[in-house]
Amino acid sequence: MFLRNSKAMRILVCGGAGYIGSHLVRELSTQQGYEIIVLDNLSKGHIKSIPNGIKFEKADIRDKKALERIFSEYKPDAVMHFCASISIEESVADPLGYYENNVVGTIYLLQTMKKHNVKYFIFSSSSAIFGNPKEVPIADNIQPDPINPYGDTKYIVEKILAWSENAYGLKYICLRYFNACGAHESGDIGEDHDPETHLIPLIFQAALGQRSSISIFGNDYDTKDGTCVRDYIHVTDLATAHIKALEYLIRENKSQSFNLGSGGGYTVNEVINAVVDVTGIQFSTIMESRRPGDSAVLIANSTRAEQILGWKRKYDTIEDIVASAWKYHKSHINGYNDR
Ligand SMILES: NC(=O)c1ccc[n+]([C@@H]2O[C@H](COP(=O)([O-])OP(=O)(O)OC[C@H]3O[C@@H](n4cnc5c(N)ncnc54)[C@H](O)[C@@H]3O)[C@@H](O)[C@H]2O)c1
Repeated sequence: MFLRNSKAMRILVCGGAGYIGSHLVRELSTQQGYEIIVLDNLSKGHIKSIPNGIKFEKADIRDKKALERIFSEYKPDAVMHFCASISIEESVADPLGYYENNVVGTIYLLQTMKKHNVKYFIFSSSSAIFGNPKEVPIADNIQPDPINPYGDTKYIVEKILAWSENAYGLKYICLRYFNACGAHESGDIGEDHDPETHLIPLIFQAALGQRSSISIFGNDYDTKDGTCVRDYIHVTDLATAHIKALEYLIRENKSQSFNLGSGGGYTVNEVINAVVDVTGIQFSTIMESRRPGDSAVLIANSTRAEQILGWKRKYDTIEDIVASAWKYHKSHINGYNDR
């Protein structure tokens, strides 16, 4: 029996053992007024990333009975939903698996929330909903047009949420992250995906000799050095945005979507140079041809989050972001080492 502190808000964090979810749990656990329950099937997450004292339930969101038990036992007031399969490449190879986990799983979660009268939902959406947008920076109100199954699963959930508000009064916030990166300032928790597809940890693998080189896909884009530009947003800043979003949802009782990026961007070459500067390690790079579907520049316009949520980023330079990630990686050469 989990005894309720009557003043605290109880937050069920689904996917809280993953990269971004664990950083949210870390930040939220430092705030007054919240009780946290983490739900994760540990398919990709890491139990070691959850702070001591946080209630943990190993469960799958596609398991309706498990959801029923967890909602009955903990009676959460709000749900933050980080669970998803997250690789674009894998989603192209296995779309059905992606729609099942990311869409069907979310429907089960929403159905259980509805049954238990849980009204507040914060959803990890993605810049992938925008595909190859005609205008950058990408504003919050441009029409999504995903170009792969992963992005489509996120867009479908955004539409399901809008219709669920209409039908059942659900209040939700969609946070569309751009390129999440960096690690907690302690260096205790950080990014450990398997397979790893994100640029900064892949570059560290090259710096640490765990891969022979880092590939750069295309140097003939219309950017300052010809390599693609992406918007890198620190994972702690994403965590802060979740807390601001939760406060907004409860205060205003209004659904909304927000793009979360830095409003600027760095080329692949600039990120590589930042890793060389921060680590002091030289490594090989290989120039490859463009990958199909890669846009030249993807940058967020995050002014809506800044103005409406009062969200302020703490990390603004690629050097600071890389330095925080390096603190984790150099002390966790094999990540959480739990597979
Ligand atoms: N990492 C990024 O750059 C990025 C960018 C945009 C959006 N997102 C979204 O943010 C969320 C978190 O991403 P992340 O990088 O932390 O990924 P992650 O893989 O580290 O975290 C996802 C967590 O969800 C868990 N999970 C997956 N399916 C589950 C299921 N059916 N039942 C229970 N648990 C399940 C995994 O075990 C993992 O702990 C995802 O929804 C992702 O689509 C991530």
